[in-house]
Amino acid sequence: MERGWSGGTRERKWEHVLACVWEDVESDASPLFECVHLVHRALPELDMDEVDTRVRLFGKELSFPLIIAGMTGGHPKTGEINRRLGVVARKLGIGIGVGSQRAGVEDPEVRWTFEVVREEYPDGLVLANIGLPQLREGGADLAVEVVDMVDADALAVHVNVLQEAVQLEGEPDASGFVETLEEVREAVDVPVVLKETGTGVSAEDAELVKDVVDGIDVGGAGGTNWAVVESVRSRAHGEAPVGRAFSRWGVPTAASILEVRRVVGPDVPVIGTGGVRDGLDVAKVLALGGDCAGMALPVLRKVLSEGVSGCVRFLRTVAREARIAMLMTGCRTVEEMSRVPIVVHGRLKEWLECRGIDPERVCSGDRRQGC
Ligand SMILES: Cc1cc2nc3c(=O)[nH]c(=O)nc-3n(C[C@H](O)[C@H](O)[C@H](O)COP(=O)(O)O)c2cc1C
Repeated sequence: MERGWSGGTRERKWEHVLACVWEDVESDASPLFECVHLVHRALPELDMDEVDTRVRLFGKELSFPLIIAGMTGGHPKTGEINRRLGVVARKLGIGIGVGSQRAGVEDPEVRWTFEVVREEYPDGLVLANIGLPQLREGGADLAVEVVDMVDADALAVHVNVLQEAVQLEGEPDASGFVETLEEVREAVDVPVVLKETGTGVSAEDAELVKDVVDGIDVGGAGGTNWAVVESVRSRAHGEAPVGRAFSRWGVPTAASILEVRRVVGPDVPVIGTGGVRDGLDVAKVLALGGDCAGMALPVLRKVLSEGVSGCVRFLRTVAREARIAMLMTGCRTVEEMSRVPIVVHGRLKEWLECRGIDPERVCSGDRRQGC
């Protein structure tokens, strides 16, 4: 297995796509959306045509609160995937993130695999993406470069400490991250979003960064799990599959949204990604106090198996399901969703109790304000 920058990063990007498409790479634990019930209204006194799913995020309007979470780019074969995803996002008027642009910075030959997203979606919400370890090395210049590469509306700075720790070529030094975020925010003129990648953000983390970021993508546990992805790669390279033990690790997405919102208050956008699989999950992200949901793995699989039209069809269904949930809870706007009565039970209720969060307040309060 080749180590280091050139070639290595490129190949790894493609191996990630292959592992995610062909293998079972999801967490053995759940995002805990099944522990959230939106209280049904038999008399919502609302016409479904009146339901307005539009939201504004980082200066752009989305027709529906969903972002195709950053996944790929960096290998020539991923350029076509990103092009298709850009078209899907444009056709639906939703947001899109690119995958880590590390390879695009190191190797000008593959920059186009990221740039293609902006080309396909000139007016849409596009998020740049780079890891905190790379920013700690590359500093402000690197942050500016990745934002410029896709003319981004926001910069998603990802953390993936678990992945780095289990990855064959990983760099598990997770020190100095908060200071780096501060420097980056000074340097770029777009909002900076802290983005987890499948193990969630806790209240403690949110407390550390609440004054140095403009948004948090909780990237919670319960969907794609990078310890599992890396254990698949390890096996393929004839190495011991370190990482399987962490297949249930992390703050479940539903819990993470509540923990983070409580700390950051109503004005910092919170994106709920990690195990979002249908429109009801999207509705639950909003009901828990998230501004917008994010989805990665199902979108990748759909666009590769059924092309742009199949992927658009799938996401239209997701949008319709969320709209139905809004009708059934009597909500005209996305913002109203955070105030609908909910019931939490099972493992999510236990999680909240153990973390000193009163489940009753969560169920009856305005979760956008943080309960
Ligand atoms: C193939 C693939 C590649 C990914 N690459 C990145 C990446 O480069 N940067 C990043 O921030 N997140 C990356 N992610 C993580 C996703 O953005 C998302 O946080 C995670 O997959 C959880 O969402 P899901 O359960 O809907 O897949 C990737 C996900 C997939 C499936």
